[in-house]
Amino acid sequence: MLSAKPATKRGDVLGQVIFCLGCCCGRPDRGHPALPVDWIKSEWKAHKLNKKIQLTISGCLGPCDVPNVVWVHTPNQSRWFGKLSTDEIYRDLVAWAISSAEHGELLPFPSSLLPHEFDRFEVPALQTSNV
Ligand code: FES
Repeated sequence: MLSAKPATKRGDVLGQVIFCLGCCCGRPDRGHPALPVDWIKSEWKAHKLNKKIQLTISGCLGPCDVPNVVWVHTPNQSRWFGKLSTDEIYRDLVAWAISSAEHGELLPFPSSLLPHEFDRFEVPALQTSNV
């Protein structure tokens, strides 16, 4: 029987941030804004964020129609954001991760990120017909 215990022994990890860098996200050659991956990695390393908030640069996560995608996964929630297109929003997200790590808890997401949230598995409304 499977156990409900966490798969990680790193009990002080608050969550994981997964930036998509796939077939569409972060690909200027496909008409999408670049993902500042080197800067994100350097910030994560400089602030030792991986001890609290793990960073993953992923291949395609699936919802290519809303690039650029980031998925924030925590013990209590799974949040998806897309159409990230400015350096400012990446700075806000990294600043959120730094502040959350310093506080030892996940803080509310920056307000600049919230309009970018989408439902990964939204079920389209059923269409009915009178025919
Ligand atoms: S490339 Fe990012 S969701 Fe497909």
